[in-house]
Amino acid sequence: MKNEMENDIKKVLYSEEAIKARLVELGEELSRDYAGKNPLVLCVLKGASIFISDIVRHMSVALEMDFMAVSSYEGTSSTGEVKIVKDLGASVEGRDILIVEDIVDTGLTLSYLVGQLQNRKPASLNICALLLKKKTDPSTQRKVDVKYYGFECPDEFVVGYGLDFNERYRNLPYIGVLKEEMYS
Ligand code: IMP
Ligand code: MG
Repeated sequence: MKNEMENDIKKVLYSEEAIKARLVELGEELSRDYAGKNPLVLCVLKGASIFISDIVRHMSVALEMDFMAVSSYEGTSSTGEVKIVKDLGASVEGRDILIVEDIVDTGLTLSYLVGQLQNRKPASLNICALLLKKKTDPSTQRKVDVKYYGFECPDEFVVGYGLDFNERYRNLPYIGVLKEEMYS
């Protein structure tokens, strides 16, 4: 059956197959780096929910999962405000923390979250993002280091595989660029 959201997509950037292939590679890298560490893998809701559920199944190490929610975006542009909407249940102190995020653009959301989590004294803290937005303007310095990422994507508004526009398109099995007329 044809996907009813398909007409809203300008172009497909990463197909289901491309995402699957990248998950295997990324999973191997993370498995090597986190062997024997029992990391606490943190999902930043809601965008990272699909990515985390796939990536942890490609990690061949014992790990724990927890979920956090922050809000910073409304529509397609940042409001500049980051709030913790749902905090963790687990303690971070002394743990190896891997933050899983859907997409890092300016890095504002994550730099705030990293700051909060560093105060809780983790043994280590790294970021794994599905997408890293390519910055054409070198003056827009990203505010966090992203150690692991799936793809470096063009500086366009993308949806699918967890990423939304006003809560829609998260369930698209691939990642695509949304047609401008859908948000203008
Ligand atoms: P940052 O704070 O500028 O790095 O923005 C990161 C957050 O904005 C992500 O967690 C996403 O929820 C959202 N975001 C940024 N770019 C996109 C996009 O192209 N599509 C969907 N969400 C996006
Ligand atoms: Mg998000």
